[in-house]
Amino acid sequence: MNLQIAQNTDANTNLAFFVSELSQLNSSLFSEKEWNFLANALEDKPDQWVSVNQYNKYIFVYRYKKHLPGNNTFSESCRKAGALLVETLNTQKLKNINVNALGYEALVAEGMVLANYKYLKYFSDTDKKASSLTEMYFENIAEADLKEVQNLTDAVCYSRDLVNTPVWDLTADQLADAAKESGKKYGYRVEVLNKKKIESLKMGGLLAVNKGSIDDPAFIILEHKPKNPKNKKPIVLVGKGVVYDTGGLSLKPSAFMDTMKCDMGGAAAVMGALQTLAANKSNTHVVGLIPATDNRPGGNAVTPGDVITMMSGKTVEVLNTDAEGRLILADALHYAKKYKPELVIDLATLTGAAAAAIGRYGIVAMGDASDEHWTKITTSGENTYERVVRFPFWEEYDELIKSDIADIKNLGGKEGGAITAGKFLANFTDYPYIHLDIAGPAFIETNDGYQKKGATGVGVRLLYDLIKNY
Ligand code: BES
Ligand code: ZN
Ligand code: ZN
Repeated sequence: MNLQIAQNTDANTNLAFFVSELSQLNSSLFSEKEWNFLANALEDKPDQWVSVNQYNKYIFVYRYKKHLPGNNTFSESCRKAGALLVETLNTQKLKNINVNALGYEALVAEGMVLANYKYLKYFSDTDKKASSLTEMYFENIAEADLKEVQNLTDAVCYSRDLVNTPVWDLTADQLADAAKESGKKYGYRVEVLNKKKIESLKMGGLLAVNKGSIDDPAFIILEHKPKNPKNKKPIVLVGKGVVYDTGGLSLKPSAFMDTMKCDMGGAAAVMGALQTLAANKSNTHVVGLIPATDNRPGGNAVTPGDVITMMSGKTVEVLNTDAEGRLILADALHYAKKYKPELVIDLATLTGAAAAAIGRYGIVAMGDASDEHWTKITTSGENTYERVVRFPFWEEYDELIKSDIADIKNLGGKEGGAITAGKFLANFTDYPYIHLDIAGPAFIETNDGYQKKGATGVGVRLLYDLIKNY
């Protein structure tokens, strides 16, 4: 979706006003009857769009309730109002809109673009399925600010597209190609390590998960390094890139498998974040690391009971091949040490336990980064409404992943499954670390405002906000 600054919009373009008081409207736009109608309707109906049909165009007005400026719930209500407007416009088959949101344009635009997203790649009648709304104009916003929203929402949609693409069209190599393409377009470095290189680095976790597959693994490195970065040591983002998770030999029941093209949601978030940071010329040095493979029960697949040696040298008893995410992430987290990072954040659709704990409404988080880092990421979570909930990370959980025959095992006990997974990962870190389990919010079953059924692109806005304000 292409966002434009309103320039002498022609008389037939639909108008939308996002106001707190009717007095903020230019009454000369309306007849007396229309004005009275609006006054009445908005009096009893705040927080929704009321429309006036002027034959050559519609005028939509939204009156929001009084609020404290900077209140995050209000930010989210701006996005949601944008989403609601888009839904109305598309239902009425309108194709353009000129929005005046009295300074809240960026948030309303964000909600609008994300709500207008559709994944149409596989329909034979794409035209009929497409949104009618194709032109969005905004007043009261600087060109640069609108461009920033454009880049951000483009990246969220890029991330959603990747997650929505089935493994047939998105193998590990194809994921790497998508990264290269974006890197070329937006000007950041992308390097892909192939299977041979992965073998020579002894990435035992990634190779073990890939053993049952006929497709090669890939290890994707993204880097945004501005000329004079404000940080000496980079921030490293690690994303789980399981392009399809059948569970491997510990095969998933079909009801749990059918959405597992989403298991590279962490990778897609990291790719989207790097793309936005580069597009918006962030002055922070950021590296992205993505271990990528599918997880399948093929001929020589890793078996429950196998012991593997990770890149770090640690040995792991694999008791459940469906706990594969932690195996590939462990090698990436070990690899991250070479950057001497200031902070490492991984994003992964890692455990059903995280989804069971808080559902799709937030991100399960844990780790041993400083309180300052936690304050920052929690604040960004509130800013973007990709809310972060910190879970305990007590040492007692380490007991649950001790193995009888190896250094650790890849399966915890019956309880605290999201935490034992995080604890497993922490075995491969030696830097300030935050683990984000996005299994709940990455892929959803129903439409909800600007989040559409399917991939949400969760993580992109959170990471961008965090790094922008770092
Ligand atoms: N990819 C899944 C986790 C998942 C579940 C993601 C639901 C998105 C939605 C992961 O690889 C997995 O299968 N985890 C197992 C771990 C268990 C075997 C310890 C799980 O959560 O059941
Ligand atoms: Zn799994
Ligand atoms: Zn998985």
